[in-house]
Amino acid sequence: MCGIVGGISKNNNIVPVLISGLEKLEYRGYDSAGIAVINDNKITRVRSVGRVSEIKKKVLNKKLKSKIGIGHTRWATHGGVAEKNAHPHISNNEITVVHNGIIENHTHLCQLLKKDGYKFKSETDTEVIAHLIHSYYKKSNDLKNSVLKATKKLMGAYAIAVADKKTSEIIVARDGCPLIIGIGKQEHFIASDISALLSVTNKIIFMEDGDVASINEDKYTIYNSEKKVVKRKVHISSIKQDQAELGPYKHFMQKEIHEQPVAVADTIESIIDEASISPKLIGGKNFDATKYDSILILAAGTSFYAGLTAKYWFEQISNIPVSVEIASEYRYRNVYTPKKQLVITISQSGETLDTLEALKQSKKNKNLKSLAICNVQESAIVRQSDYVLYTRAGMEIGVASTKAFTTQLVCLFMVALLFAKQKKLLTKSKEKDYLSDLRKLAGHIQSALNLEPQIKEWAKLFGKKTNALFLGRGLHYPIALEGALKLKEISYIHAEAYPAGELKHGPLALVDKNLPVVVIAPNDKLLEKVKSNMQEVKARGGELFVIADGDSKFDAEKGIRVIRMDRHVGILSPIVHTIPIQLLAYHVALFKKTDVDKPRNLAKSVTVE
Ligand code: F6R
Repeated sequence: MCGIVGGISKNNNIVPVLISGLEKLEYRGYDSAGIAVINDNKITRVRSVGRVSEIKKKVLNKKLKSKIGIGHTRWATHGGVAEKNAHPHISNNEITVVHNGIIENHTHLCQLLKKDGYKFKSETDTEVIAHLIHSYYKKSNDLKNSVLKATKKLMGAYAIAVADKKTSEIIVARDGCPLIIGIGKQEHFIASDISALLSVTNKIIFMEDGDVASINEDKYTIYNSEKKVVKRKVHISSIKQDQAELGPYKHFMQKEIHEQPVAVADTIESIIDEASISPKLIGGKNFDATKYDSILILAAGTSFYAGLTAKYWFEQISNIPVSVEIASEYRYRNVYTPKKQLVITISQSGETLDTLEALKQSKKNKNLKSLAICNVQESAIVRQSDYVLYTRAGMEIGVASTKAFTTQLVCLFMVALLFAKQKKLLTKSKEKDYLSDLRKLAGHIQSALNLEPQIKEWAKLFGKKTNALFLGRGLHYPIALEGALKLKEISYIHAEAYPAGELKHGPLALVDKNLPVVVIAPNDKLLEKVKSNMQEVKARGGELFVIADGDSKFDAEKGIRVIRMDRHVGILSPIVHTIPIQLLAYHVALFKKTDVDKPRNLAKSVTVE
């Protein structure tokens, strides 16, 4: 949700770094973008509504060059999508600011600043930051101290980068939104995430909440909120530049769907050793599942559906009660908290504000400990948690989550196994069987990917529809929910999901020849029940699209189309059945020519309420 990039170099033009950084960060926000550079005591700003390609054209036309600059790609919160609201914002031609986050007390600050004579040109909360910093700067001429003073007055969440027209430094600050510093040779950079900097450095520092830092060509200095100089660890990122590039694919979502065999295998191998699952592998700490009498899972969107699936696993394998809550609901509810409850948060980005705040609330509610399942190192949710288990999905850039979901499922299954093992509910031989099944998953996922040509054919039929229904039972009900979410978010077709048994309690009224009904029908113990539900649809003229297993004994017939997976893979089946519903959404979106990777109104990493 908004991306920031910036840099300062002794010898090199920084403008290409800003543009390529914005291209990489575009997935964080894509309604407008802008850059500001400093030359000869003057700030030059270029902004544009639309994609980064628009700003790139403008910048190339102007032949802009500078050794210091900041850039921003926006997802509108305060103020509509308009050039005047695009960042960077400028105060009195002296201070320029880019910002990610939301300033909650901006109305109050705005009133004070107006009384002080500041004129506002945009509808954003960010312009308040620019003027506030300027109000201190005009008295002291000291950019760093002005930023330190201004940040004390800000309420809400922010990552900011600030430059003034005459100094050769950039000041950055964060509280609640991510910001990293990149270290180069006689140059330093800042960005919302590493993807923006991979072309220039892999040496990075994660700033912490409350930190303010100054960077110039030769050095960086980080201050904590008490203005004390602090040291932060330098990380060498293992992310390769090609992870942030499309390669032979047309879209990141397509690439990420096809990366799932590797992502799932990497995740599994990072957690288990040769023949067993060990508690040490959860964040390197000794984790003791016997301490807990219940689990609360908190997450949003697709990650929430991973949690719903895990509830079935935990209750079946590890005999522990699990509740799964949408993070934004949990935050504001009066809850009963069992004494020995473990909270598991699930988040691809580790930045989702609802999940982060729900985690904080769960601590106030006196839950015993927390475990984060996350794809992003050192993210806010990870830092707030007692234990962490990383999904090894690699960077996920497509707004619609795909490989993050399947790797979350893998991690959750392994945590369920760990619970069973530590509670002595898992025999050695059963553990071995599960681990061997896990290691076969990548192959099953690859076979499911091979069904793409058949799914493409289905997509042509869906492309003409306005509504769709997804049905599943038991472990596969959350996969039906995920299928409906994927379809609506990237193809804009209205889709709903129901447990198939609920059909007759209401949604059956929707069924007619115009309603495609996708049924997740693995060959499990509920298959016969699902078949009856299918008959209820067929009898009302509904068109059925069934995702079955190779060994399910039923055939396509009039009104029933069937795609067959490999043989049934038992308790891990939801992971494999996810692949066709992802491919379906992708191909319907292609058919409808929507913007697959950047669906309208959405953004990756939802850092606002
Ligand atoms: C849907 C999707 C979202 C995210 C949700 C939570 O495809 O990507 O529903 O799952 O915004 O995001 P994370 O997992 O980053 O907390």
